[in-house]
Amino acid sequence: MRFDPVDRLAGELVPPPDKSISHRAAIVGAMSDGRVRVRGYLRAADTSATLEAVAALGARLIAAQPRGAGLDVELAGAGLRGADPGAAAIDVGNSGTLIRILPGWLAGQPRGRWALQGDDSIARRPVDRVVHPLRRMGGTVDCREGGLPPLVVEGSDLHGVEYELPVASAQVKSCVLLAGLLADGGTTVVERLPTRDHTEIMLRAAGVDVQAANGRVSVGSERRLELGEVDVPGDFSSAAFFVAAATLVPGSEVRLRGVGVNPTRTGFLRVLERMGGEVETDHRLAAGGEPVADLIVRAARLRGTEVEHAEVPLVIDELPLVALLGALAEGTTIVRGAEELRRKESDRVATVVAGLRGLGARIEAAPDGFVVAGGGELQGGRMDAHGDHRIAMLGAIAGMVSRAGVEVDGFEAAAVSYPTFADDLRALGRS
Ligand code: S3P
Repeated sequence: MRFDPVDRLAGELVPPPDKSISHRAAIVGAMSDGRVRVRGYLRAADTSATLEAVAALGARLIAAQPRGAGLDVELAGAGLRGADPGAAAIDVGNSGTLIRILPGWLAGQPRGRWALQGDDSIARRPVDRVVHPLRRMGGTVDCREGGLPPLVVEGSDLHGVEYELPVASAQVKSCVLLAGLLADGGTTVVERLPTRDHTEIMLRAAGVDVQAANGRVSVGSERRLELGEVDVPGDFSSAAFFVAAATLVPGSEVRLRGVGVNPTRTGFLRVLERMGGEVETDHRLAAGGEPVADLIVRAARLRGTEVEHAEVPLVIDELPLVALLGALAEGTTIVRGAEELRRKESDRVATVVAGLRGLGARIEAAPDGFVVAGGGELQGGRMDAHGDHRIAMLGAIAGMVSRAGVEVDGFEAAAVSYPTFADDLRALGRS
């Protein structure tokens, strides 16, 4: 698909519902007793895989009504210890979040054995990061040599542990916390750097006493969860593409409505502010414990910045956009300590560097990030999405801010998190 330059971006947009929170609503909803209503569940490939997985595991989907880009979902949970042992194979599609969080629930079931696997991208993504802590809790969990899927998990008696995360990962933290609800004794996850805390917020909403302070998150054994109702805010990571586009195209001003602004997700706004970006946040309100705001973005001239290791988890999914901003900023932009970028839906150090370089950016890969020499213009050309939704959308934004436009090969990958992205982007473009 082709994306051409525009004169400016203007208008308003409601970004699609948050992917991370939607996954968690389906999983914690399935673990709950009674009816659960999720208002604004993301309608996209990743989160459809999660709904199908929890339905196979015994959650009953009662209703699903379209609501904007999302769905209002009503389901009856299977219960904390009620996963259906008959669902032997679970297809996670492209979702790293699903293959890493779901085993936390399954590992503590009274019975059952499940094999989780997904597409070609999932087959290359490490799952030993959840196998290790679950085994320490007494879990019966295995994966292929090299720490890769399929992941096979059998229900076992678990005991609580204190586990320090070797890599900053909200997925691993979430997996251990879910297993902790089923374990004897208390479970504590220690994280040296903060990562997104949507699981902690949702478990509290489901009645769990979650203690979190000084990089330690603790839960105890629970008898039942009751999630009740969840409102899913707009996805900050999806909105970030428009934040970048409106910042880069002179004369732009857009309002992004109802965006989740949990501070463990919005590191991109702090990076952009250092670069000279202009984003105002308006109408702050909390929906089910998650802060939500409108973002008003105006075009700005940018300067380079450095993103260090400690900031990386808070901006991890937006680092491809930081590379694009850096290419058009004055001065150099450096991202360090982001080796985890190499383990996403694609090796995002490699795919971002090859993609933007092909369009004329001066960007070099490092083992743990990249260095962008700014001051440039993007010429345009062709870019391959490499089956990665965020690289597909990066190519689209690059096309909009380039001189000659960009043809994105494999753009359909965007449907993993944002099926209507191209239409929404066109609706904001003025030429
Ligand atoms: C996610 C956590 C992050 C993020 C991913 C979604 C989540 O991954 O990159 O897109 O929903 O918990 P890690 O936890 O592996 O860093």
